[in-house]
Amino acid sequence: PLVSMKEMLIKGKEEGYAVGQFNLNNLEFTQAILQAAQEENSPVILGVSEGAARYMGGFNTVVAMVKGLMEDYKVTVPVAIHLDHGSSFEACAKAIHAGFTSVMIDASHHPFEENVEITSKVVELAHFHGVSVEAELGTVGGQEDDVIAEGVIYADANECVELVKRTGIDCLAPALGSVHGPYKGEPNLGFKEMEEIGKLTGLPLVLHGGTGIPTKDIQKSVSLGTAKINVNTENQIASAKTVREVLAAKPNEYDPRKYLGPARDAIKETVQGKMREFGSSGRA
Ligand code: G3H
Ligand code: ZN
Repeated sequence: PLVSMKEMLIKGKEEGYAVGQFNLNNLEFTQAILQAAQEENSPVILGVSEGAARYMGGFNTVVAMVKGLMEDYKVTVPVAIHLDHGSSFEACAKAIHAGFTSVMIDASHHPFEENVEITSKVVELAHFHGVSVEAELGTVGGQEDDVIAEGVIYADANECVELVKRTGIDCLAPALGSVHGPYKGEPNLGFKEMEEIGKLTGLPLVLHGGTGIPTKDIQKSVSLGTAKINVNTENQIASAKTVREVLAAKPNEYDPRKYLGPARDAIKETVQGKMREFGSSGRA
């Protein structure tokens, strides 16, 4: 069923695993991620950035596509459609009204008081509709669509506690050294801060920039209260690699099903690997 992230993340935190957020880019990504979730018997979060939604047609298109596939594939595991890095109250409201079951309001680049104000407004509307809310503090490195970060700023523990108390969000993404896109060298995550923020807020934490984080760091993050891990780039790389291979091997191929079909299988396999690594397999 289509659900918010609230229960799946509380359960994940309690039972010691993380639910993956896998980003949608097109039909094949959506198919692959839903197939993976159903086969792994895993809860799943479908991440949709504003840019990706625009690419696919808009929020309504995304919701209709997901609902259609869930019906055709007879999906029984819990699925959340989540706005990733929502840039404003207006964007979150649009997603909620189109049928998204979860939103992230990323007001982390605003001054703290403004972040609290915008996030509170989103929570009020979202909770009225049974929609869960993720907020961010600090700066995740790298670039994601419209959100470009200048350097990495760690989240401040006191601000995290205050934001949680004053807004009533369901989960928190404290930026602690993770980066969107591939890492240059090994990631250097702030585990001490993660532990502190997890304990002080009591909320499930979210780890952005899941691509390229070694398994030992994933396991450590989960043990410190991380219950949601976002992955996009790794699936994009798997998909692009497959398309390149197929077209190189068959230069005369032109039927998109012949190169996007194998790309879809590569995404599915990557997602299944992540679900096992995060411990969400078999937890639906
Ligand atoms: O919000 C989405 C993620 O943080 C994805 O990060 O592309 O590095 O896996 P990634
Ligand atoms: Zn992110």
